[in-house]
Amino acid sequence: MRLLGREELTGPALQRRAYELENEPRSVRLRRTAKGLALAALLAASAIAAADDQDAIDYRRHVMKTLGEQLAAIDMILAKKAPADSFAVHLKVIAATATQAKKAFEPKIQGGSSKPEVWSNWPDFARRLDGLVASSDELAKAAKDAGAAAVGPKIKSTLDCESCHKVYMLPPKP
Ligand code: HEC
Repeated sequence: MRLLGREELTGPALQRRAYELENEPRSVRLRRTAKGLALAALLAASAIAAADDQDAIDYRRHVMKTLGEQLAAIDMILAKKAPADSFAVHLKVIAATATQAKKAFEPKIQGGSSKPEVWSNWPDFARRLDGLVASSDELAKAAKDAGAAAVGPKIKSTLDCESCHKVYMLPPKP
């Protein structure tokens, strides 16, 4: 029988080893447990490290999807398919989410639908997100004062999502 690949034990030798293990001093047993725990922690840490990159990609996609959902809600209001009460709030949420987006893209982790230029042209990429924060914030204020009907026509031209996607996002796979 092989024990931890270190020793070959059979018959009486195995019995002796079992007796030793049962009667070993507490300090030895604790050390053995500590070694086992350290190994488990190491394995867990490497599993976390392996998941890290995908986590960063998933996280920024969740944040970007939030932008998409909020814009879809705004489009419904403008099409009069949803009540206009929350119009300004949706714009506020876009401003807050664009702030989060900059944080979410900060880790330099390629993948998802992002082109490598996100990080090689970081100042331009970041400036575009800052622009989105500022413009959606302004629209939110205007919507609070003047209402959805007045601000609606400005949404498409002011919230420029497509121009950034053209430069920094990979086209969808066929
Ligand atoms: C500064 C550039 C930039 C701006 C501005 C921007 N996006 Fe994006 N967006 C990206 C990039 C890059 C990705 C790809 C992320 C990935 O998969 O790694 C993306 C992905 C997305 C996705 C796909 C998420 C998924 O995985 O399904 C949606 C939806 C989206 N953006 C919506 C928007 C909306 C709506 C706006 C405007 C309100 C916007 N984006 C503005 C760069 C931008």
